[in-house]
Amino acid sequence: MSSACTYNPGCVLQKASELPMIIRAVYPGSFDPVTNGHIDLIQRSAALFDHVIVAILKNTSKIPLFSVEERIEMLRSSIGNLDNVCVEAFEGLLVDFVQKVGASVIVRGIRAVSDYEYELQMALMNRRLCNKVETVFMLPAEAYSFLSSKLVKEIAELGGDINGLVPPDVERRVRAKFRSQIST
Ligand code: PNS
Repeated sequence: MSSACTYNPGCVLQKASELPMIIRAVYPGSFDPVTNGHIDLIQRSAALFDHVIVAILKNTSKIPLFSVEERIEMLRSSIGNLDNVCVEAFEGLLVDFVQKVGASVIVRGIRAVSDYEYELQMALMNRRLCNKVETVFMLPAEAYSFLSSKLVKEIAELGGDINGLVPPDVERRVRAKFRSQIST
């Protein structure tokens, strides 16, 4: 049978049934802290893939505002009842973690053209490290195209309003973190 498939819904269905596979994706990042842009992307990924593992990098080079444990708690409290999403921490190479958890896809968000160059470099390097893992770029809602964890921290530190940029639990914790930093 020819594998060429012109417009023919029956053919498309047949091909899909030949591939009864579960696709597990890893959405990696620092999440210091998780923003509403990250949550938007997690929700979109959860609708697209069978399982999504949100993977927090235990970064040794950057000094984070929140510990890995705090970041895990914030992500878990923000994800709500998405039952095909879980949160884990990882260290070492991302592609090693992806394979260890049986995933085949890395999800990365692209907010603007300026993100693309860095993301392309990472995706191609990850492909060189492991050809079996594909990177999928996803777009967050336009409303979050200017949002980053770095800006959230900067605004909060300077006493600005971060309401609507991060989940409520995260907003409370970010404020508390800067209050405690001021008082120490
Ligand atoms: O939220 P971030 O800081 O943009 O996420 C960057 C992250 C965690 C995806 C990246 O730093 C990473 O994958 N680090 C793990 C180490 C690794 O695999 N490095 C080679 C990547 S090409």
